[in-house]
Amino acid sequence: MVEAPIIYYWSHPNTRNTEEVARRIERELGIEVRHILNSKKEADSPYVLMTPTYEGKVDARDPYIPNAVKRWLKASRARRQLIVGVIGTGNLNFGAEYCMAAKMLCERLRVPLLHRIDVRGDDDDYEILREGFDDSWDSLVAMRREVVGSRKIERAVA
Ligand SMILES: Cc1cc2nc3c(=O)[nH]c(=O)nc-3n(C[C@H](O)[C@H](O)[C@H](O)COP(=O)(O)O)c2cc1C
Repeated sequence: MVEAPIIYYWSHPNTRNTEEVARRIERELGIEVRHILNSKKEADSPYVLMTPTYEGKVDARDPYIPNAVKRWLKASRARRQLIVGVIGTGNLNFGAEYCMAAKMLCERLRVPLLHRIDVRGDDDDYEILREGFDDSWDSLVAMRREVVGSRKIERAVA
């Protein structure tokens, strides 16, 4: 691997499901994880974003993406360019809206949806993630490098 993978994530402080997923990824896969609000380190190398979905009617244009995630992406062009993929956390009970925030971000930022995790996931999820990072990280980075600079990405979350 040329550059080590990093995962930025946000998690609601009351439920902390994504936080638990991040901690398990860190523990079992040895990948560095950073909470978008608590990390002092700025995104300066390719990373994966992990976000839950919160369906709500507050913002009609963006009814699913947590505001903290939206603001974090809006605040920095580098963050929008360095992202190479998204992992969604959610709840299968939401049916067609399962992990909708992750799907929407992937469309806007032109990056692949790498995996979806129901609540805190099971052993299979972590095995899938391990294989995915081992086999595909370098090509994800290379693919992103080819498309950055696209104006659509610049405006994606603005
Ligand atoms: C008000 C509310 C709306 C939600 N809407 C969705 C949804 O549309 N799709 C989905 O997959 N999960 C939805 N969820 C489930 C959360 O995304 C899921 O519980 C996730 O694990 C929360 O992560 P967190 O604890 O890290 O914030 C919703 C949860 C709440 C409380």
